[in-house]
Amino acid sequence: MSGSLHSVLEPGGWDAAIISGFAWVLFGAGTVIFLAVMALLLLSLRRQGRPAGALLWIGGGGIAFPVLVLSALLGWSTWRSTQLAPQSSQGALSISVTGKMWWWEVRYRDPASGREIVSANEIRIPTGRAVYLGLSSADVIHSLWLPSLAGKRDMVPGRVTGLTLRADKPGIYRGQCAEYCGAQHAKMALHVVALAPQEFDAWLAGQGQAARPADSPLLERGRAAFLQQRCQACHTIRGVAEEARLGPDLTHVGGRMHIGAGLLRTHRDSLAGWIADPQAAKPGVFMPGSQDLDQDTLHALATYLEHLK
Ligand code: CUA
Repeated sequence: MSGSLHSVLEPGGWDAAIISGFAWVLFGAGTVIFLAVMALLLLSLRRQGRPAGALLWIGGGGIAFPVLVLSALLGWSTWRSTQLAPQSSQGALSISVTGKMWWWEVRYRDPASGREIVSANEIRIPTGRAVYLGLSSADVIHSLWLPSLAGKRDMVPGRVTGLTLRADKPGIYRGQCAEYCGAQHAKMALHVVALAPQEFDAWLAGQGQAARPADSPLLERGRAAFLQQRCQACHTIRGVAEEARLGPDLTHVGGRMHIGAGLLRTHRDSLAGWIADPQAAKPGVFMPGSQDLDQDTLHALATYLEHLK
């Protein structure tokens, strides 16, 4: 899997295919009508004076034609809409997504222990199965938009909305916040990774595990730096420090494709740069920088986080 889709016109799932059908049919019908009206306009310019059968033109072209065409499009699109996936969690795999300024918290239920698994900025789903995303917001109104998989749904504080996805084939589908939510609205992206069902189950079982142990002096130094820098005031690493929920859960951060909500590829260098000065990459973000950290400690901390797969 390489590259990611972010296009209404390249559907990767059931609802997206219906929605892209709407786009094409309405665009096609609009084009035909536009051309017909332009042709009539040209015709009327060439024929000065009151045209013969004016009443017929007004009645036919001005009333009957729009009524017929718009009714046909309305009927067709209403019928097609009934084929969209039901917006219900029944029989679907449920995943909770919470919009936060400016990232996404993603919560799964561990089928083995029943415990909650918390992740961020990446939603992994199995292919060929309805997945119900329960959406809410922790602060302001956000909107989850996954153009290659489904429509768009607002995330409103104090309310739970839902969006059903069904990916037909494995792939990476990009999403974006589609409701202006402050300074870094533009940098509030996420990715949906659709995996074959067995692959998904194996991945989810791995996510249920606590963080990998720091099994080398460098990693141990990184783990110690995490605690010394009081990163655990905002971030959880299961098995290390598990109280905080302000920032993204970092238990398996190294296994996610990006950090900063779709902003930077996960790598020890991008992690080090982000930790030292997150404001440089994403001004206004709530994470304070650690510019006073010496290079060796910063490198150890970034290497430790990268290893948490
Ligand atoms: Cu969140 Cu825009």
